[in-house]
Amino acid sequence: MSFFAVDGLTMRFGGLTALDDVSFEVDRGMIFSIIGPNGSGKSTAFNCISGIYQPTAGKIYFEGEGISGLAPHHIARLGIARTFQNIELFSTETTIDNLMLGRHQHMHSGVWSGVAMLGRATSAAREETENRERVQWIIELLDLVRVRDRPVGELPYGTQKRVELARALAMEPKLLLVDEPSAGMNADERAEVAVRMRELRAELDVTILLIEHHVQLAIGLADRVLALNFGKPIAQGAPEEIRQHPEVIKAYLGDG
Ligand SMILES: Nc1ncnc2c1ncn2[C@@H]1O[C@H](COP(=O)(O)OP(=O)(O)O)[C@@H](O)[C@H]1O
Ligand SMILES: [Mg+2]
Repeated sequence: MSFFAVDGLTMRFGGLTALDDVSFEVDRGMIFSIIGPNGSGKSTAFNCISGIYQPTAGKIYFEGEGISGLAPHHIARLGIARTFQNIELFSTETTIDNLMLGRHQHMHSGVWSGVAMLGRATSAAREETENRERVQWIIELLDLVRVRDRPVGELPYGTQKRVELARALAMEPKLLLVDEPSAGMNADERAEVAVRMRELRAELDVTILLIEHHVQLAIGLADRVLALNFGKPIAQGAPEEIRQHPEVIKAYLGDG
């Protein structure tokens, strides 16, 4: 049983096939990168995995259970968190409040909320303390201490991306989906993203599924790589194989 698996995933929008029979498996603890030129179906794959889209065909398995068809909050509660290609934060709220909100929504949605409400005030207070401690730890890990109490809408773009990553991590996911962490960044910032991803993997017990248009970053970080083009898998393997793969090189030649 693999930690995470996608089997024959297909997603059609009207006449457009955004994903065409895509299969892959991810072992626990890996950084698995999905690469491909713009429009190749990477974000669509994440939207299927996180339950935002219902796949046209195919199955998704997490820790041995089929998760395709489940609602996004249900999938999140199983331990899958994500960031978005276009940052989705509460821009008037502070860094810490965005992280606390993310954590609350995660822990108090669905069947357990009633149980939590019935709990004694002491246990609620203890839980709140634990939440704050966890969130504070993530804030330090991602170097966000200086912007902890600033509204995120005022922060530079790169910092906002870091807050979004922090919010996903505050949910203590087992599987983290990261969509284009280096989008809109220069070479220095991209190098920082690479260092951070490695740090996260070392510090946290988290498996990372990374989608990234910047092919060198994605391949450099990965234990294993899947390459897509126009929704079709064109290569899959170890980073060094993918780097030299003729289909991959061809796919990127025409890509600005
Ligand atoms: N909700 C949608 N409705 C219609 N077409 C979509 C939708 N989402 C994505 N697409 C199309 O699917 C294809 C893949 O898009 P996307 O997954 O965003 O690619 P990538 O993330 O690799 O750049 C594109 O042609 C895109 O226009
Ligand atoms: Mg995308």
